[in-house]
Amino acid sequence: MFSVVGDLSERPKADLIVVPFFQGVRGVESIATPSDLRAEVDLVINSGDFSAKSGATMLLHLSGKNEKRLLLLGLGEEVSCNLETLRCAYAAAMKRCQNKRWAYVSFVLPTLKKCDHVAIVRAISESIESCLYLFEEWKSKKATYYIENIALIGTKEMEVVKKTSNIFSGVNLARHLINRNALDITPQTLGTRAQRLAQAFPSVVNTTLLTKEQIEREKMGLFLAVASGSYSDPALIVIEYQGNAHTKDRTMIVGKGVTFDTGGINLKSTGCVEDMRSDMSGAAATLGTIQAAASIKLNHNIVGIIPATENAIGPRSYKPGDVYRSKQGTTVEISNTDAEGRLILADAISYGQEKFFPSRIIDIATLTGGIVVALGDRRAGLFSNNDQFAESCERAGEITGEYVWRMPLGPGYRSFLESDIADIKNAATDPSRKAVPITAAIFLKEFIPKNIPWIHLDIAGTAFLDKPRDYYTSLATGFGVRLMIELLTSYS
Ligand code: BES
Ligand code: MN
Ligand code: ZN
Repeated sequence: MFSVVGDLSERPKADLIVVPFFQGVRGVESIATPSDLRAEVDLVINSGDFSAKSGATMLLHLSGKNEKRLLLLGLGEEVSCNLETLRCAYAAAMKRCQNKRWAYVSFVLPTLKKCDHVAIVRAISESIESCLYLFEEWKSKKATYYIENIALIGTKEMEVVKKTSNIFSGVNLARHLINRNALDITPQTLGTRAQRLAQAFPSVVNTTLLTKEQIEREKMGLFLAVASGSYSDPALIVIEYQGNAHTKDRTMIVGKGVTFDTGGINLKSTGCVEDMRSDMSGAAATLGTIQAAASIKLNHNIVGIIPATENAIGPRSYKPGDVYRSKQGTTVEISNTDAEGRLILADAISYGQEKFFPSRIIDIATLTGGIVVALGDRRAGLFSNNDQFAESCERAGEITGEYVWRMPLGPGYRSFLESDIADIKNAATDPSRKAVPITAAIFLKEFIPKNIPWIHLDIAGTAFLDKPRDYYTSLATGFGVRLMIELLTSYS
């Protein structure tokens, strides 16, 4: 579907060619306009009708040319143009192609003083790949693309484009799993998906599923407590990716797999419960990352651990005030059944630690509403016990546009979780809801061995959008897959 064309004069015929422009002090600046299109373009630019602010578009019809149409695309001022600007601007161009019967579309690539060519090719191919994902299954009138061939003009980096497509097979797997009905994506479905990954990449991926009985045998009391109200049995999904057989170094990713979060007895209210099928976004990102890693043959070992269950309400639900024993042995007072994510993650972390001795741990979870309030849908909360690991993650965020923001772990927050009856309680009971994302991270930290580098990503705000934005439709973004692939690349 993608092709690359190094020489502007060798462009294939197309229904549309997209040409980028900067906004300069003296008006619109041409970046890489093919010489045979110069006359038409200059006519428009000199008219003053087009402003090249970022994401602005203007469509021209061409007669008797290599391309039938030309779309002028604004990138804004060059000084403020970065990789994310490019993703957003090229997404605006893609949007113009929706529902149009344009099969051949060419994109001219810009050059930017502060970004290297490979990064530009990557950002633009990411934007195009992301836009091509539409979730229209339930729409009678479906939005669609008729695009069959996309030519990137001004590059020879086909490998970069292919790599992006491979990574997006993981991003889109995550989106697919998150968007579907909660009753379709159960703990068992997630397990089957993980097994399918092992079938697709039999030499490098290995999946093991633990049944409820096996989870009981592992004494994962917190995980079982959360699962007790659910009609579906829980599943613990263990998915190993061996990308480098020469080393024991391995990253463990623990993904929250709550297939629906009702809140339990501390029931969520209208306005809070509607999107809770997305509460397995951490699990989806974990599977997506393994899919992506296997597709690009990432030279790094990963083990994904996914505690999968519904947090349901019913006669057998776990109750506020009850105490349960974690796999690690720590006893936990359930002060709020809606703080379920940290409970299942805690036992999953202990299980993974005991079985795999990872070199570092990432957990990824739609953990708190507080992180949505603090950072919105632009940045995920990052918590870490290790500055170097945290900084690598921040860098990966800047490169991919899956931004993170580091939050503190201490000092002084542990006292929020002191319990009169058990070793710790799962959530602070202060009604003013102080520092909820931090206390959630503090709870998890109790289950992380002291000297293991650890990152906790709270993706409650970034995993699922209530309206379309930039290169995303509304609903699932697949957040975390590109970030973790980039981060793990720096450990490969
Ligand atoms: N799954 C929710 C967090 C969430 C909120 C995800 C909004 C996506 C969007 C989580 O299980 C939860 O309910 N957290 C509570 C914790 C509280 C009870 C301490 C929260 O943040 O309100
Ligand atoms: Mn909850
Ligand atoms: Zn939840």
